[in-house]
Amino acid sequence: MSTNQYPPIKKIAISTGGGDAPGLNAVIRAAALSGIKRGWEVYGVRDGFHGILSPEEYPNGGFIPLTRERISGITHLGGTILGTSNRNNPLKYPVTRSDGTIEEVDRSDEIVRGFRLHHIDALITVGGDGSLSIASVLAKKGLRLISVPKTIDNDLDKTDVTFGFDTAVGFATEALDRLHSTAASHGRVMVVEVMGRYAGWIALHAGVAGSADVILIPEHPYDIHKIVEKIKEREARGNKFTIVMVAEGAVPLGGSLSVVEHEAGRAERLGGVGEKVAAEIHAISGKETRVVVLGHLLRGGSPTSFDRLTALRFGAAAIRGLEAGQGGVMVALDPPHVKYVPIEEAMGKMKMVPLDSDIVLTANDLGISFG
Ligand code: F6P
Repeated sequence: MSTNQYPPIKKIAISTGGGDAPGLNAVIRAAALSGIKRGWEVYGVRDGFHGILSPEEYPNGGFIPLTRERISGITHLGGTILGTSNRNNPLKYPVTRSDGTIEEVDRSDEIVRGFRLHHIDALITVGGDGSLSIASVLAKKGLRLISVPKTIDNDLDKTDVTFGFDTAVGFATEALDRLHSTAASHGRVMVVEVMGRYAGWIALHAGVAGSADVILIPEHPYDIHKIVEKIKEREARGNKFTIVMVAEGAVPLGGSLSVVEHEAGRAERLGGVGEKVAAEIHAISGKETRVVVLGHLLRGGSPTSFDRLTALRFGAAAIRGLEAGQGGVMVALDPPHVKYVPIEEAMGKMKMVPLDSDIVLTANDLGISFG
C-alpha cells in the first residue's frame, strides 16, 4: 500500500473480469460518476483485458467512454455493460503452436504498455481471485490500480462479503421454496446443485434459509449412506420427500471433485455432482429422485438492494482511494466500514465455510444433515 506517490489523475479506466455477478454495473456507475465528479475522464475496457490486448476486434477500439449518458439507469441491471471473460488469462494466455500444442504466454507487459499508450493514469479492476492475481502483477509492473472484489461464490478472503452473493442466495432460496411443493406432492427426493466453486457458501446460506433437509458442502466430505439415513428418518416421520442442496464443489468421503472440463488459460469447470448424488440415492434407497442444476441462473437477474449498495460503496470507495493516493490495494467490506487491504494479503487465499460457524451450528440445531 502506498500513499501520495502518484501524479494527479486525469484519466482512468475500469475493467470487469471473471464470471459476471449481479452488481457489476452498479460498481461501474458509482466509479464512473465519482470519477466524473472529480473532473476525470473515465473509460471502460471491453471484455476483461481483451479490449486492451486486441482493440482491433472492436468497432471503436477496446475502450468505451463512460459518460453520464452511458452509465445512466444501469445500477439494477445484471451482467456488465463492459463485457467480461474468464478465459484467456493474460498471465497464462493460451497460444496454439504450429505443432498444435498449446503454450501459455504472459501478456501482462502488453497490458501495461496499452494503458500507457492511452494515457490512463489509474485502473479499477473488478473481479475475483483470478483478477486479483492479474492486478497484483500489473501493480508490480508500475500500473496504478485498485481492485474491487466480486464473486457470487463469496470465497474471497479479507472482505466480509462480495457483491453478487446475496442475489445468488436469494434466487437459490426461492428455487428451494418452489421445489418444496412439487417434491412433497410427488414424494420425491429433489437434489439441487448450486455454484460456489470450492466453497459451500451459497449452498449453506440458501440451504438453511430455504429449509433444505440435507446440505452438502466442499468443506465437509459427504457419506452417501448418511444422506440415505436422513431420507429414511424423514420417511419414518411421515415426510415422503427430501430436499438435498449440493454445492458443485462437494466431494464424497475419499472421493474427488466432479469436473466438467479443464481447458488451458482458465480455471477448471465444476459440475455433475448433483447427478452423481441423485443416482446414488436412487440406487441405494430406490426413491424416485430428480435433479435441478441452478447453474448460471444464479449469476443473472437484478442485484438485491444489499448487493447494489455494496457494489455502489465499493465503486465510490475505489475512486476515493485513488484520489487519496492508494494503489495496489483491494477495497473490502469490514462492517460498518469499507477499507483498503493490500492485494497480496487478499489474493490466493480462499475463504471457506468454517465448520464451527454460527450458520453451521444453526443448521445442526435445525436437524439439517451435512451427509
Ligand atoms: O466463480 C463464479 C462461478 O459462477 C462459479 O460459481 C462457477 O464454478 C464458475 O463461475 C462457472 O464458470 P463459467 O461461467 O465458465 O461456466
